Amino acid sequence: MKGVILAGGLGKRLEPLTRITNKHLLPVYDRPMIYYPIQTLVEAGISQILVVTGGNNAGDFLRLLGNGGEFGLKHLDYTYQRGEGGIAEALRLAEHFAAGEPLVVILGDNIIEKSIRTYVQRFAAQEGGAKILLKEVDDPHRFGVAELRGDRVIGIEEKPKTPKSSYAVTGIYMYDAQVFDIIKTLKPSGRGELEITDVNNAYIGRQQMTYDILDGWWTDAGLPETLYRATTLVREHTLRQRGPALEEDTLIRLAKTEPV
Ligand code: G1P
Repeated sequence: MKGVILAGGLGKRLEPLTRITNKHLLPVYDRPMIYYPIQTLVEAGISQILVVTGGNNAGDFLRLLGNGGEFGLKHLDYTYQRGEGGIAEALRLAEHFAAGEPLVVILGDNIIEKSIRTYVQRFAAQEGGAKILLKEVDDPHRFGVAELRGDRVIGIEEKPKTPKSSYAVTGIYMYDAQVFDIIKTLKPSGRGELEITDVNNAYIGRQQMTYDILDGWWTDAGLPETLYRATTLVREHTLRQRGPALEEDTLIRLAKTEPV
């Protein structure tokens, strides 16, 4: 299984933060945003990873990440998406890298609390097709929304005004090699993009889509509000893991070193 991180786009919803840098290089608590999806893939046992960048300052990804040594990787692959043609268009650039192997695809601004290892293993055990991860949310109209019947997903609507469920399709997708043939059949949507929701609906039409409900919190970080929420969630998680004693220790140390 190989991994693809989609970190292109112009990040217009975060203007002016993204005027001089790429959205995925912005800070989320104590790290650049791109660190989190890399960590998610590495933790799931994936060591061959392609970063699709684009927009401003694409070269900074190389300066920041190098060959991924910080994550225990020997090598990272990079490719560049021109303009803002949508998630599916960005994914198309991964065809050469995938070389027929199945993929775990993650949007560079999707940050999660827990491991996806179990879901990746389940996908590896299924006979091809695709898998999406869903999460119940209060504001489904902001996302792709899944319509469920029993243990099957029977359709996905992209940002519906009247959502058919409260299950958002998270930006973590698993695909077999058919995905590239499907992308070639897509037409741009109303917002002028090749939509990942159309890819997913094609798999649903072929009866080759499974889903799991993601455990733990999930957030995107593509709006000022969600970027702030991501920072808060990561901060709480990090401090919980370090333990309260360390938290206090850090604060005391900071107080001592901070200039008055
Ligand atoms: C994209 C997808 C949407 C998905 C979301 C997850 O939305 O189109 O289906 O639910 O990512 O973050 P976008 O960020 O392009 O608005």
